[in-house]
Amino acid sequence: MFFRPTFRPSVEADLDLVLSCTTDEPVSWADPDRYRRMLGNGGYRPAHTWIAQDDDGRLLARAVWWAFPESDRPLALDCVWVAPEVPDRVGFAARLLGAAHDAFRAAGWAELPEWHLFLDPGWRDDPAVAAALEWRLAAAERSGLTGRLERLRYEWTPELPVPEASGRLVFRAEPDDEIFVELFRQTAEGSLDDDTRRNLERLGADGQARETLDSCLQMPGERSWWLLAYTPEGELVGFTLPSANQGGPVVGYLGVVPKMRGRGYADELLGEITRFHAARGAERIGADTDRDNRPMAACFDRAGYRNFGVRLVLTQ
Ligand SMILES: CC(C)(COP(=O)(O)OP(=O)(O)OC[C@H]1O[C@@H](n2cnc3c(N)ncnc32)[C@H](O)[C@@H]1OP(=O)(O)O)[C@@H](O)C(=O)NCCC(=O)NCCS
Repeated sequence: MFFRPTFRPSVEADLDLVLSCTTDEPVSWADPDRYRRMLGNGGYRPAHTWIAQDDDGRLLARAVWWAFPESDRPLALDCVWVAPEVPDRVGFAARLLGAAHDAFRAAGWAELPEWHLFLDPGWRDDPAVAAALEWRLAAAERSGLTGRLERLRYEWTPELPVPEASGRLVFRAEPDDEIFVELFRQTAEGSLDDDTRRNLERLGADGQARETLDSCLQMPGERSWWLLAYTPEGELVGFTLPSANQGGPVVGYLGVVPKMRGRGYADELLGEITRFHAARGAERIGADTDRDNRPMAACFDRAGYRNFGVRLVLTQ
């Protein structure tokens, strides 16, 4: 039936075809509303949406990557669909992803985009979720995404507390990017954050600090929001980097230098970020941290942030 399927990036004229697939599987999913909205803001593009068709032009599979609007490079895979009548969903999805990965590599992107799957906190106990994940995880692995990481998704909303400033720390703006590069370098030491650890391995201490600066600068938050944190005696403790993404305000990034860890300063830094966004009228503050970054997850729990979901990240 699927004698010679074709695997290719879509073009503008394919829009109806791209929007024609539906699913009732309980996984994060680009439905027509989301797809059109993201197409409108540049997050999705025809060229970053890969499709498979049979000889008659019918849609057999679709994979949608997301990118920063100002970047050519697809940053994360959002969703994969394979028509239920395709006999080997794993193999077929792996062929579609493999074809796209080859094209990404040919374009000079050394690292494959991660695949981000958005799940409920209790996803492990739900058989329908397990079934939807099973073939996707197998296909991801076959197409080169062999790493797996769980990020806890948190949110603050206005009915939750806004902590008072305790006075244990003093916050000051710092316009010099080089000071932040040095702090990113120091706080990466002993970090339990998977991204930071992998970037350290890949780029070395200075390289990861510069990459962190670049990616923080790319976020839609203002550079002037970034603050350094000192003790009242003037000793540097860390930084707060409240920011935003396309969904609104986010905690962004915070760090405590190694010699100041274990004194509860993370609570002060998160408190400062919460106060900052709340004072600007935020309706929601989003945040993510690795399940393995236990001190940070505990800090969100203590601050009353709600763990409303999990982001399962599949990496190269
Ligand atoms: C996560 C982080 C902000 C915690 O800061 P902190 O001020 O030390 O937090 P706490 O004082 O609440 O520490 C809680 C406990 O975790 C321990 N801990 C903190 N960071 C740790 C680390 N990187 N590795 C191992 N243990 C750590 C502390 O020693 C403390 O243990 P204790 O209660 O037995 O004394 C800090 O480790 C850090 O800057 N990490 C790197 C950057 C990072 O991960 N940022 C968050 C990204 S989302």
